[in-house]
Amino acid sequence: MSQPNLLGIEDLEPAEILRILDAAEHMVEIGHRAVKKVPTLRGRTIVNLFFEPSTRTRASFEIAGKRLSADVINFSPSSSSLKKSESILDTARTLDAMDPDAVVVRHGVAGVPKRVADVLSAPVINAGDGAHEHPTQALLDCFTVRQQKGRIDGLTVTIVGDILHSRVARSNIYAFLKLGAEVRVAAPPPMLPPHVEQMGVKAFTSLREALDGADVVMALRIQNERLAGAYFPSAREYSATFGLDRAKMRYAKDDAIVMHPGPVNRGVELSHDLADHRPSVILDQVRNGVALRMAVLYLYAGRRTADEG
Ligand code: CP
Repeated sequence: MSQPNLLGIEDLEPAEILRILDAAEHMVEIGHRAVKKVPTLRGRTIVNLFFEPSTRTRASFEIAGKRLSADVINFSPSSSSLKKSESILDTARTLDAMDPDAVVVRHGVAGVPKRVADVLSAPVINAGDGAHEHPTQALLDCFTVRQQKGRIDGLTVTIVGDILHSRVARSNIYAFLKLGAEVRVAAPPPMLPPHVEQMGVKAFTSLREALDGADVVMALRIQNERLAGAYFPSAREYSATFGLDRAKMRYAKDDAIVMHPGPVNRGVELSHDLADHRPSVILDQVRNGVALRMAVLYLYAGRRTADEG
């Protein structure tokens, strides 16, 4: 990889994205074994530094590290010296003094993983920062699409929902465009970033038009606890116009797949039925998250191993 840290998809070359996806293909096979463990990162230490809640990302980074035989430490901000006013950067420096081989960072403020990377000698993996990027989510999404469709180049990917606040949307836009897909975004006007088309996407305020001929439909989580009333009148109204169900999916291609990064607000951005059954690939995304993050840890935390090998 050309850079020591994985801070965003924006920084990656298409060939680097493909290298990670190809490495993840090998990791899938390890997950099918009776003993799901290889010695690749034996003796290495991974620190999970999550300042925001997470189920999928944190658990899959932990499982990924353990499947590669790394020692994985889950740092808990609520029981750390952050509670005694130690700063995030001093926390990072303190952990760095214990010689980890990679630090996985999630924070609610955009740019924190970059600031942490600036003071660390270990590689930093961004596990989601504010509305900036969530690179490993986009990589596992690309992996899942390639697994389901056999390719990414030439596909039409429609991302539906809160594009303005979504780090998942941002990383996926970069990733799918770099790999040759057409990317469309669809949302109520206040949820579309100004000038979003300058990123290379096609923007729609009509879901029907955005879905027309789509191969992949990705719904985003609506943060209705924070946004209802400010960006759309109510969750019910959002669901009626932009919530995906089987009737609306008829506008997409017959074999279109439905994706969601999770957690899902059932009945808001996705109907219960669509969340649980094909063409949904939501649990494939979760499953692939482990293999993809194994690949990322191998390529970043195992740099010396990879370079020597
Ligand atoms: N998709 C995602 O980041 O989920 P978590 O918040 O559960 O990690």
